[in-house]
Amino acid sequence: MASKVGLSDADLKDFHVSKHPLILHKLSILRDVNTEPKRFREVVDEITSLLCYEATADLPVHTITVKTPLTDTECQEIDARIGLVPILRSGMGMLNAMLKMIPSAQVWHIGLYRDHRTLQPVTYYNKLPDQTTVDMCLVLDPMLATGGSAVATIDILKHWGARQIKFLGLIASPEGVQTLRQAHPDIQVYVAALDSHLNELGYIVPGLGDAGDRQYGTI
Ligand code: URA
Repeated sequence: MASKVGLSDADLKDFHVSKHPLILHKLSILRDVNTEPKRFREVVDEITSLLCYEATADLPVHTITVKTPLTDTECQEIDARIGLVPILRSGMGMLNAMLKMIPSAQVWHIGLYRDHRTLQPVTYYNKLPDQTTVDMCLVLDPMLATGGSAVATIDILKHWGARQIKFLGLIASPEGVQTLRQAHPDIQVYVAALDSHLNELGYIVPGLGDAGDRQYGTI
C-alpha cells in the first residue's frame, strides 16, 4: 500500500515520524520564517531532546546494584557504547541536546557538503580511527533531503564497523526516505516530520529553509 507521499510499506519500515504534541508545536516555530537564529537554535535543541527520548527507547540495559540511603537495590544502566555522529555543519545544532541525555557518548564528526550543482555529498572531514569504538551510532542531521549525506555517512560508519545505526533528523522528504531506505534498509529513522517534496534546488517543501543558515544566521 502506497502512502500519500508515495512511500511504500518497505520505505516506511522502521521509519518513525513523531506525533508528540510538543514536537508538533515546536516544529511550527522552526518552520516560521520570522523565527530568529537564537530561538531557532533553542527549539532545535528542545526537539532533539524529545527525539532522543523516542529514538533511545530500546537501548539495551544491564542490572547494577545501587546503595540508596536506606538499602541496596537493583537498578538499570545503559549497556552500549554510543557514538553521536553529527553531520557538519547543521547536525551540530542537535549535538548538545543528545550529549545532555547521553553524557557518556563519544562524538565523531563527519563533514559533508552538498555540491550545489550535482546535489551529491562530498566528504571533507572524517577522523574516525581504524577500528570502531562504539556499539551504536546515532547520526544527527536536521534535514533528510535528497538522502545523499545520510547514505554517505552511513556508508562510512558501516565501513568503520558500526553494527547498529539510527538516523535522527527534524524533517524528511519522501525522496530522502526512499533513497536512504534503498541504500540502508536496516537502519531506524526518527524524524519530527515527513514533508511533501523536494524542490528543484533540493530544498524540502514546506520545510524550514536551510537548517544551517537558520541556526547560524548566515542566510
Ligand atoms: N538542507 C537544508 O538545510 N534544508 C533543506 O530544505 C534541504 C537540505
